[in-house]
Amino acid sequence: MSSMEFSLHISLVSFLVLLSIVNPLFATKVCNFPAIFNFGASNSDTGGLAASFAVVKSPYGETYFHRPAGRFSDGRIILDFIAQSFGLPYVSAYLDSLGTNFSHGANFATAGSTIKPPSSYPTSLISNVRFSPFYLDVQYSQFKNFIPRTQFIRHQGGIFANLMPHKKYFSEALYTYDIGQNDITAGFFGNMTVQQVIATIPDIVNNFSANIKKIYNLGARSFWIHNTGPIGCLPLILANFPSAEKDEYGCAKEHNEVSQYFNHRLKETLAQLRKDNPDLAITYVDIYSAKFSLFQDPKKYGFEKPHVACCGYGGEYNYNVNVSCGSTINTNGTENLVGSCGKPSVRIVWDGTHYTEAANKVVFDKIATGAFTDPPVPLNMACHRSFTKEL
Ligand SMILES: *[C@@H]1O[C@H](CO)[C@@H](O)[C@H](O)[C@H]1NC(C)=O
Ligand SMILES: *[C@@H]1O[C@H](CO)[C@@H](O)[C@H](O)[C@H]1NC(C)=O
Ligand SMILES: *[C@@H]1O[C@H](CO)[C@@H](O)[C@H](O)[C@H]1NC(C)=O
Ligand SMILES: *[C@@H]1O[C@H](CO)[C@@H](O)[C@H](O)[C@H]1NC(C)=O
Ligand SMILES: *[C@@H]1O[C@H](CO)[C@@H](O)[C@H](O)[C@H]1NC(C)=O
Repeated sequence: MSSMEFSLHISLVSFLVLLSIVNPLFATKVCNFPAIFNFGASNSDTGGLAASFAVVKSPYGETYFHRPAGRFSDGRIILDFIAQSFGLPYVSAYLDSLGTNFSHGANFATAGSTIKPPSSYPTSLISNVRFSPFYLDVQYSQFKNFIPRTQFIRHQGGIFANLMPHKKYFSEALYTYDIGQNDITAGFFGNMTVQQVIATIPDIVNNFSANIKKIYNLGARSFWIHNTGPIGCLPLILANFPSAEKDEYGCAKEHNEVSQYFNHRLKETLAQLRKDNPDLAITYVDIYSAKFSLFQDPKKYGFEKPHVACCGYGGEYNYNVNVSCGSTINTNGTENLVGSCGKPSVRIVWDGTHYTEAANKVVFDKIATGAFTDPPVPLNMACHRSFTKEL
């Protein structure tokens, strides 16, 4: 062996040794998450708000469940696809007390949830825009109580024991978050200027990250954190702020810039959390870009009328904040159902604020690969801090 070959050999060995030390994924293993615990708002609600307040009406759920299933879509939401990808049952809403099975997780999200307490926001100018009392700190309290109470029930035995998660699942589970959009709309609908909304964001993001830290302190180790979507592409914004300047894809530019600012702060804050906690596997998921790509090139994904709600009523966007999907409207003395466009599979937007199952599936397929995450970790590797495809 020549000395050059020898030193090459040495450096290769030390490189491999180094890699296996800094990169726990050297022997890459798929994560077997036995449970999912989710926190968030309507984009990940699987029945929390519906169990507590307004029932979600038909035609919600028409595509997949063939009945309203507490979700704000015509079918499955991203969280459903996440659960399905691990062979886990759909995540049951914590607030749903009727026949619910928590053995593989629980969902604390409710539609209308904010990160900050809703009382910290100005009253909405639009009476139909209201926020959920189950804001993020409340979801934390519910989860904190959930751990000892479920363990008590398990130990007690009897018919409820098997409906509760195993103790070790709390450290092995995947913890997912999808929240933030309502904090941003709270500002816009509270008559704040774009600059005023932007000024509120650092505090909102700090509150978000403090919440994640508290869940970590309860034993959670693997996090999958969705950022906030391109709100300016939705009828909710386009119809309510008709004078907003549009970008080349027909989305409200400044509203999207606020979402992007939120995301920029969130990404930085999560990177800091990751740095401070070596045993924390936290993945930032760029839902914004995954969703935005649908509006950039709807045809590519088989979608038409990208900014028009499938289920809604009136105007250019088939959306009126006073007339919700599934309600009835009196026109010229006859009651008409505000129903579905009939083909949600070729639409992106379901009800003006939320996405169709078809769009949710495309977004899920994009994010699951790791192409939209920081670090670039695929969903099934999210228990690891980093990931190398091959050497
Ligand atoms: C709860 O769900 C799990 C997973 O789907 C299932 O194995 C278990 O039998 C269910 N428990 C009861 C009591 O139905
Ligand atoms: C909203 O803000 C504008 C500009 O600051 C102000 O002129 C208007 O009166 C406000 N409207 C309401 C209902 O507060
Ligand atoms: C979030 O902010 C609220 C009030 O603005 C505060 O009461 C709460 O403790 C904060 N949450 C966290 C986790 O820091
Ligand atoms: C919604 O209802 C409010 C109060 O009745 C009204 O002022 C507003 O113009 C309505 N908005 C639309 C878009 O119809
Ligand atoms: C209601 O009736 C008026 C007068 O007949 C008609 O012009 C209008 O188009 C009708 N509106 C709807 C929504 O059918």
